[in-house]
Amino acid sequence: MTKRKHKREKEQLFQALNQQSQSSVTHNEGSVPAAVLAASPTLAALPESNELPKMKKFRFQLMHEWIMQRQPPGRAADVGGGKGLLAYLLQQSGWEATVIDPVNQALPPKYKDLTLNRRVKIAPDETVSHFTREFAPEMADQFDLLVSMHAHGCNIQLIDVAATTRKNVILLPCCIIQEPLLPEPGQHWLACLVDYALAKNLVVEPFRLNFRGQNIGLYIHSKF
Ligand SMILES: C[S@@+](CC[C@H](N)C(=O)[O-])C[C@H]1O[C@@H](n2cnc3c(N)ncnc32)[C@H](O)[C@@H]1O
Repeated sequence: MTKRKHKREKEQLFQALNQQSQSSVTHNEGSVPAAVLAASPTLAALPESNELPKMKKFRFQLMHEWIMQRQPPGRAADVGGGKGLLAYLLQQSGWEATVIDPVNQALPPKYKDLTLNRRVKIAPDETVSHFTREFAPEMADQFDLLVSMHAHGCNIQLIDVAATTRKNVILLPCCIIQEPLLPEPGQHWLACLVDYALAKNLVVEPFRLNFRGQNIGLYIHSKF
């Protein structure tokens, strides 16, 4: 195949993939506009942001730290966990942690310990428990806490789980992919999730992790 033909085919493939994703994905990459936060009584309670641009790659460490300050070790699901670093860090801190993700990826070979400010290696034979399939509400029974960081297709399902099972749920929402409902025109996805959870009589505590981008989390739990 000539180089030019190869390049043309690659461009066509890219275009097709792009069109496909435009039809099923609503991207939401940047920080949430201040007006969106101000318009929601729940989100308006968030403290001022002091976002550090370089910290995005450390979001697992930041989320781990937030969870550790919030509740004692138990059984956690890292829903849509990708490489599973959040589950690994929780496991290191005494949690029974499981990644639920249809794609089974290896743990990263190393990560930065932000408290000690040094790189830590993960040995090739270290693992975390993995359910290699899409999240389904009946899996929630086995966990005390379900965390979904930038995960696909799980946000509404997890709010439903919090409402029906009284499990604690943490969402760090990102794009809208394969969700059963969409925000109203002009409504931000984050505000839509807050309203959906409040309508189910749940408590929604928003928080912000210290990196620039989709850094607002929702800690969702029942009133009692
Ligand atoms: C954008 S990645 C986020 C990965 C990781 N949590 C992070 O913050 O980098 C989304 C992940 O969701 C997973 N995923 C897609 N559909 C899912 C589903 N229905 N249930 C669970 N995970 C899903 C993907 O395989 C992918 O690993």
